[in-house]
Amino acid sequence: MATYRIAVLPGDGIGQEVIPQAVKVLHIVAREAGVGIEFEQALVGGVAIDAEGTPCPEATLALCRISDAILFGAVGGPKWDALPPDGRPERGLLTLRKALDLYANLRPAKLYPVLVEASPLKRSVVEGADLLVVRELTGGLYFGEPRGIEEVDGGRRGYNTMSYTSAEIERVARLAFGLARQRRRRLTSVDKANVLVVSQLWRQVVTEVARDFPDVELEHLLVDACAMALIAEPRRFDTIVTENTFGDILSDEAAILAGSMGMLPSASLGGRTALYEPVHGSAPDIAGQGIANPLAAILSAAMLLRHSLELPKEADRVEEAVRRALEAGFRTRDIHQPGTRLVGTAQMGDIVVRELEALYG
Ligand code: IPM
Ligand code: MG
Repeated sequence: MATYRIAVLPGDGIGQEVIPQAVKVLHIVAREAGVGIEFEQALVGGVAIDAEGTPCPEATLALCRISDAILFGAVGGPKWDALPPDGRPERGLLTLRKALDLYANLRPAKLYPVLVEASPLKRSVVEGADLLVVRELTGGLYFGEPRGIEEVDGGRRGYNTMSYTSAEIERVARLAFGLARQRRRRLTSVDKANVLVVSQLWRQVVTEVARDFPDVELEHLLVDACAMALIAEPRRFDTIVTENTFGDILSDEAAILAGSMGMLPSASLGGRTALYEPVHGSAPDIAGQGIANPLAAILSAAMLLRHSLELPKEADRVEEAVRRALEAGFRTRDIHQPGTRLVGTAQMGDIVVRELEALYG
C-alpha cells in the first residue's frame, strides 16, 4: 500500500476550523481507496509567531520539505497587524512559497449551477462561468529587489520592484498552456504592456512559448480591461495566466463568480512538494464561530489528491460529494439562500463525508 505524508498547517483564524474538515474527508479517501496517508501538524503564521517568535519556524519548513503535499489553512489577523512586513503572519506563507519554489498558483473559479443565486452577478452573466487563474507566485513585486523605505529630502520614499526574468515567465507560461490544453484550449495572458517594461517582456516570452502550443488560442489582455471583462463577460475566459500581484487581485475578483470566496480552492505547484490552500484567508470577522465554509478547504484537498497523490478518481469523487452536498440543499452562511438549509462548518464537513461514503458504496 502506497503511503503518503501530508503536512497539515491550519494556521490562523478559520484555517483552524476548515482544515480539520478537509482532513476528515482525506481520512475517508484513505480508508475507502486503500491509500496510506499520514498527517503531521505544524505551526505557521500568527500561531507560530506566538509560539516560536517566527511565522515560519525551521521545523515547519523541514516537515514541508519531506512531505508529499502540504494542506494549508490561512494566515493573519488583527492581533499581528502592527508587526513590520517581514515579521507578519503572511511572511510565513510567502517563505514557504519561495523556499519550496511554488511558482504556479492554480485558482479554479467555477460556478456550481445550484449556487447561481448566491453570486451577486446576474444569472444571465454568470451562469456557466468556469475559469482557471494561473498566478505566478514567486516573482514580481512580492519578492523583487530592491525594496525598502528610505529617508529622502523632506520625507521618506517607499519602493518595491516588479521584476521578472524570461526564465520565470517561460516556466509559468508553459505550465498554463499545458493546463489550457486540458481545458477549452484558450489562454488569456494578462499584463500591463502599454505602460510597464516588465510586462513587455512578459508578453514577448508568452508569445514565444505559444509557438509550442499551436492548438491553444492565445490572447493578450491588459489587466484593467481584464478586471472589467471578468465581471462583464466571465464566460469568455477559460485559462488566465498572469504575474503575481495582478493574479492576487484578479483571483479575488474571480471568486465572486463562484458565489463566494468560501468556494475557491487553490494549488501552488512548482517544486517537489506542492501546497494546497483555500483562497479565502483567515476571515477574523467570523473566526471561532463555527460558521465558515469548509468547501474551499475540501476542494483544495481534492486538488491535492489530483496533483500530488495522482489519484484523479478520488479527486473526482470528493468534488462530486461536494456537488451533492450542495444539491441536497445544505449551505453555510456565506452561500445561504432562502429555501436552503443553513449549516455550520463541522456539519457541512460531515455532510460531505456522508456523501463521499455513499459514493464509495
Ligand atoms: C493570497 C493572499 C496572500 C497573497 C497573502 C496572505 C500574503 O492574499 O494568497 O492571495 O497576497 O498572496
Ligand atoms: Mg490574495
